Amino acid sequence: MSLPNLVPIPELYVSADSAQKLKVEAGNLPSWDLTARQTCDLELLMNGGFNPLKGFMSEADYDGVVANMRTADGTLWPIPITLDVSEKFADTIEPGQDIALRDAEGVILAILSVTDKWSPDKALEAEKVFGADDLAHPAVNYLHNTAGKVYLGGPITGIQPPVHYDFKARRDTPNELRAFFRKMGWRRVVAFQTRNPLHRAHQELTFRAAREAQANLIIHPVVGMTKPGDIDHFTRVRCYEAVLGQYPAATTTMSLLNLAMRMAGPREALWHGIIRRNHGCTHMIVGRDHAGPGKNSQGKDFYDPYAAQELFKAHATEIGIEMVDFKQMVYVQEKAQYFPVDEVPEGSTVLDISGTELRRRLREGLEIPEWFSFPTVVEELRRTSPARSKQGFTVFFTGLSGSGKSTIANALMVKLMEMGGRPVTLLDGDVVRKHLSSELGFSKDHRDLNIKRIGYVASEITKNGGIAICAPIAPYTATRRAVREMIEAFGAFIEVHVATSLEECERRDRKGLYKLAREGKIKEFTGISDPYEAPTHAELVVDTQDVDVDHCAHQVLLKLEQMGLIRG
Ligand code: PPS
Repeated sequence: MSLPNLVPIPELYVSADSAQKLKVEAGNLPSWDLTARQTCDLELLMNGGFNPLKGFMSEADYDGVVANMRTADGTLWPIPITLDVSEKFADTIEPGQDIALRDAEGVILAILSVTDKWSPDKALEAEKVFGADDLAHPAVNYLHNTAGKVYLGGPITGIQPPVHYDFKARRDTPNELRAFFRKMGWRRVVAFQTRNPLHRAHQELTFRAAREAQANLIIHPVVGMTKPGDIDHFTRVRCYEAVLGQYPAATTTMSLLNLAMRMAGPREALWHGIIRRNHGCTHMIVGRDHAGPGKNSQGKDFYDPYAAQELFKAHATEIGIEMVDFKQMVYVQEKAQYFPVDEVPEGSTVLDISGTELRRRLREGLEIPEWFSFPTVVEELRRTSPARSKQGFTVFFTGLSGSGKSTIANALMVKLMEMGGRPVTLLDGDVVRKHLSSELGFSKDHRDLNIKRIGYVASEITKNGGIAICAPIAPYTATRRAVREMIEAFGAFIEVHVATSLEECERRDRKGLYKLAREGKIKEFTGISDPYEAPTHAELVVDTQDVDVDHCAHQVLLKLEQMGLIRG
C-alpha cells in the first residue's frame, strides 16, 4: 500500500562527498552570517520541513505569498521565507552570485545561488501577512526593527544541518519521523503543536483528538523561536518529558521542531499544517487562538480566536492534512473532568486558569491546583521561575540629559542595598560611556549600540538573580523595546520615565551642555538637535520638578513592591 505521508520527502542536501568538496570551495565565496531565525528557516528548508520550497523565496514568490498565500506557480504557502540582509551586504552582491550561509560559529551550512535581490515593502508585508502594521505584533516588530532592509532569494544547496547540542535524541527530521511511523506501522498520526508546557487540559485535548481521529499521537513542540517572553524551551522540554509517562508509549511519541514561529494566527496555522504534513502526519490539532500573538496596540486581540480553524478548514484538502479542531478545554468541578467549553453540562461549575493567571501564581509563589497541572510539571516550572521576590530584575531609567536619572538611580541603589538579599549594579549613562562604550559618539547607530550593550549586561545580571539599575538617556522607543525583550526573557523589566521637561532640564543645565548645544557647539544633542521619543508604556513616570529625589526613589520602591519584586 502506498502511503504518501510515509514515503521519503525530498531534502536539499548534497551527498557527504560533495558536501566535503563544496565546503572547501565555499570558503572563497562571499558569506552571510545567519541570524537565529534564518538558521531555523534554513534547517527546515534543507530537511524538507518546508517542502516544496527549494530555497529562500524569489521576489515573485514573495509577492504572491504576501498577496494571496501562493507562490508564483500557484502553490499554497502562507508565510514569507526570506533571507533578509543589511543594505551594506546587499550592495556587495548581485543576482547570479553564490554566497555561503554560515551559522553563528562560522560553520558553512549551505550555499545560496542568488537569483533575486529587492527591497520589500515591509508595511505591506505586515498588513497582509500579520493583519496589521502594528509593532505590538512580535513579528511586525521583528520585521521593522530587526530584519535587514534587503531580501535575497534563490535556491539552496544544503551542506550540513545546524548542530544542536541539546535534546539530540528528541530531534527528528521529516524523513526520520516518516521512517519511524513506517517502522511502527502508524498510518494515521495526529500532531499537537505547542509552545507552552503541557497541563492537564492539553493532555485531555490530545487524548480526545487521538480518539476522534483514530490516530496515533505526536506531541510536536516548537523549540526554535517562539513568542518573546515565553518559557524557554529547556524548561518546556523537561516539562514534556515529565508528562510523557502519562501517555501510552505504544500510541504516543514526542519530537522537537526547530521552527521559528511568527505568531501569525490563521496563516500560521496553515503553515503549521504544511510542516506537519511534511513530517508525515495526517492530522493536526487546531485549538483556540492558534499561534495568536496576544493584544494589539489598542488592547484588542489581533485575530478572532477561531479564525485559524476556519482558514485551515478551507485549505485542509489542498494541504493534505486533516484538522482536528477543538474549542477551549475547561475543568468541570462536579464531574472532576475536562470538557470543551461548548459541551459543559448545564449548571455545572467551570474552573480554568489562564496563562496570565498561571504566570501570576508562579511569580507570587501561590498554589497551583492538581486539577490544573501535574505536580512534576509545576515543580519544574517553579525551579526555573522562582517567585518574583527571588528573581533578578532590571530598573531602566530613561529621560533627557539632566532630568535627574542618575541621582534617582543612585538613591534607589542605596535603598536596595540597605534592604539586602540581591546584589545591585548601577549602569549609569556616564559610567557606561567611560567603561563600556568609550569609543562611541552620539549618532543614532552609536546610541543604539550603547543601549544594547547596557541591555546585554543588564540581562546577564537579571539572569543571574541580581538587580541591574540602568540610567542612560535611551532616546529611541525601538531600542528600549529591544532591551526590554532581552531582559524579560530572564526577569522583570521596569521602565521608569524620568519625565522632567526640556525647559526644566535646560534651566538647570547642570553640566552646561544645553548652552553649548544651543550654540551649536555640541551636535546631535538630545532634545535640542536630536529626538527624544518619550515612552508611552513605561511602568512608572516620575517628574522631578518640585519633588525631591528621595521621594522619586521611594516611588520606584513602591512600584517594585507592588510588582512582588521586593518584600515590603
Ligand atoms: S544615549 O543616548 O542613551 O546613548 O546617551 P547616554 O549614554 O545616556 O549619554 C548621555 C550623557 O552624555 C552627555 N552627552 C550627550 N547627551 C546627549 N546628546 C549628546 N549629543 C551628548 N553629548 C554628550 C550628557 O552628559 C549625558 O549625560 P546625562 O547624565 O544624561 O546628562
